[in-house]
Amino acid sequence: MLDDANLAFETILELRASSVEDLLRRLLDGRLQPGEISRPDRLLAAMRHGVLNGGKRLRPFLVLESAAVFDADADAAMRVAAALECVHCYSLIHDDLPAMDNDDLRRGQPTVHRAFDEATAILAGDSLLTLAFDIIADEATGLDADRRCALVVALARASGIGGMAGGQTLDIDAQRSPPGEPGIIALQAMKTGALIRFACEAGAILAGAAPAERERMAEFGSAIGLAFQLADDLLDITADAKSLGKATGKDKAAGKATLVALHGEDWARLQLAGLVTQAQELLDIYGERGAMLKAAASFVAARRK
Ligand code: IPE
Ligand code: IPE
Ligand code: MG
Ligand code: MG
Ligand code: MG
Repeated sequence: MLDDANLAFETILELRASSVEDLLRRLLDGRLQPGEISRPDRLLAAMRHGVLNGGKRLRPFLVLESAAVFDADADAAMRVAAALECVHCYSLIHDDLPAMDNDDLRRGQPTVHRAFDEATAILAGDSLLTLAFDIIADEATGLDADRRCALVVALARASGIGGMAGGQTLDIDAQRSPPGEPGIIALQAMKTGALIRFACEAGAILAGAAPAERERMAEFGSAIGLAFQLADDLLDITADAKSLGKATGKDKAAGKATLVALHGEDWARLQLAGLVTQAQELLDIYGERGAMLKAAASFVAARRK
């Protein structure tokens, strides 16, 4: 059962989600940016379908709250949050494609390739990934150029071959030759952990915090990133598609290499609790300032969707 603290957390999460959505809606309207030639209607509609379709917006929340820990500029943090959500939504659009997980349902609605077509879904993903870097690098983000550049580099590394996209490749390979526990942890740290790690590190980069602070926040992000995928793999077994907004029972059917498949549900739940405690301890040093991120760590394990 969700306790009061979790319910209060979910209310705050929803508030932050609606602020991020306001910005995402503005970034995905039909208005041309300098240098753009046109925004084709169908592609824009597919991008909007893949982004403005609900979602917990946990990664943006982590950016905003990690920024608050370091007193970073809130408007700049909001743009980084929106950029990260664009990368996340692109990863979901491509993850759902027939060549990958072949899913028809996402956030309770038809996946982008079902609502549109495969080519449009691929291009919507490409365009969202590119837009993310546009959003951060744009002068409207308002930081000095060095910090914008540091954010671009960190997000690129989290998204590409050494991060999310690389992890998705390893995830596909693992269906053919199952890795052991270290292999699964490594692939999950990449496919899911890297973007969550970036979300937590972003606040320290935005504020120009000391390298040790950045490293601590990255470590926190890595721990909750692993926890997040562990919870996702548990929900794939225990939840129903209606409340989850996506198909369930898919991992076993596809022969996905997960820690739950390897060690079972009870082990996974213990591991999940351990990761949350480990993550929260890293933030003790921030006292009350770390409270919201600690609540986010608990939410990751307790979530029902
Ligand atoms: C789902 O992410 C994909 C994984 C990395 C497991 P979320 O559970 O954050 O999905 P949304 O954004 O809330 O739909
Ligand atoms: C997704 O992992 C990781 C991504 C990079 C999108 P899953 O394939 O388990 O995510 P869901 O269950 O489809 O959301
Ligand atoms: Mg997948
Ligand atoms: Mg999937
Ligand atoms: Mg899953």
